[in-house]
Amino acid sequence: MGHRAADRRSGLGEFRRRAAPTSSCACRGFTPGSRACRGRAVTRRWVVYGTGSIARAVASCAIEHGHAVVLAGRRESAVVGLAEKLRIPHRVVDLHEPSGTRRLLEQTTGIINAAGPFRETSAVLFRAALDSGTHYLDVSNEWDSHRMAHSLHDEAIERGIMIVPGAGFGTHAAESLADHLVTQVSAAADLEIVLGTRQGPRTEATRASTRLILKTPPRRRSDGHLTTARDLTAIRSTSLPGIGRVTMVPIADGNLCALTRSQGAANVVVYATVTLVAPIARLMIPLIRRVAASRVRPRGSSSPVVPARTAQLWGYCAGAGGSIHASTLITDDSARYTAEVVAAILALNPRAGTYTPHQILGTRPGQLAAQARILRI
Ligand SMILES: NC(=O)c1ccc[n+]([C@@H]2O[C@H](COP(=O)([O-])OP(=O)(O)OC[C@H]3O[C@@H](n4cnc5c(N)ncnc54)[C@H](OP(=O)(O)O)[C@@H]3O)[C@@H](O)[C@H]2O)c1
Repeated sequence: MGHRAADRRSGLGEFRRRAAPTSSCACRGFTPGSRACRGRAVTRRWVVYGTGSIARAVASCAIEHGHAVVLAGRRESAVVGLAEKLRIPHRVVDLHEPSGTRRLLEQTTGIINAAGPFRETSAVLFRAALDSGTHYLDVSNEWDSHRMAHSLHDEAIERGIMIVPGAGFGTHAAESLADHLVTQVSAAADLEIVLGTRQGPRTEATRASTRLILKTPPRRRSDGHLTTARDLTAIRSTSLPGIGRVTMVPIADGNLCALTRSQGAANVVVYATVTLVAPIARLMIPLIRRVAASRVRPRGSSSPVVPARTAQLWGYCAGAGGSIHASTLITDDSARYTAEVVAAILALNPRAGTYTPHQILGTRPGQLAAQARILRI
């Protein structure tokens, strides 16, 4: 499907029509004189919320790219410690305190939410961003927070703010790989993206978000419609270049939500990979999903873990005429990839509405310093 068709589905076409230069204001999609519009005339200042590994990477990279950043989080010692290291101003704000959250967003261009699991933090920050007319980005890969973000598209246009869920490796990498795949076949019909397990230790919040994704009922796009993918036969073993034999389990995550927005293939499935053999996985996955449901909260405050770096995705696309293409996307540093996606979005003029990172940036793994590359398999 071409960009125009994808834009129609995502609402981007509508935005572009509305954003046509009907006034002398240079801000795309903003009501001239609105707070978001006025914000462009002064120095932009972004709040990074969170003090964990990804907040650190995002804030450092944004500073490297010349953006003015304020660090915020709920735990004073962590906020002060990281802000001092980065030499930036800080604010201690508990998201459960609406007045503090509101004050945090006053006088700022936008907020980058790096505090996961996002089930705990995104809803309150979406509302605060809409109320205060400030832009919102996050690095969530959770289904529910992505769905909520996209349900706010019209409200975001009215308020003149940009909302971008998943501004990171997840979901930009999967969208970029998918975009590459669909251009290699004619009339892309079936698209499958397989997420590799990231190597190395994972932070508390990443583990909690993974449990949330596992707990979410699996879904797929089938003939253009989202359906639940409960059929256990969808769990199947395969051999993937780079990691060998794995079992693929369909999931519903931010990648699936973004792909259904930015890609036109009628059938889309996103798989996680597990090391269990398929028959055992078919028995265990429903149980694991139930256990995951009871263990979603992180067990304590964030640990000083150096997060997993290398990350890989595989993708398959079949065209209506029977042509098939397979490729893989690899990065040596997924945290850096995420930080660079955020920095690249901050460098652009914000657009009113909710968009996937790929709708904002297009495909650019080769332009990111995180050594990302797409290879044919
Ligand atoms: N899209 C991507 O490519 C991508 C890449 C990396 C990470 N992520 C996601 O980003 C999230 C953060 O990862 P991380 O590695 O930075 O985790 P982390 O090191 O464990 O840090 C989590 C941060 O979130 C804060 N936090 C958690 N719940 C909160 C709440 N209810 N209110 C306020 N602050 C809260 C924590 O504050 P305390 O220290 O006070 O607990 C901590 O600052 C995870 O959900 C992960 O899945 C996404």
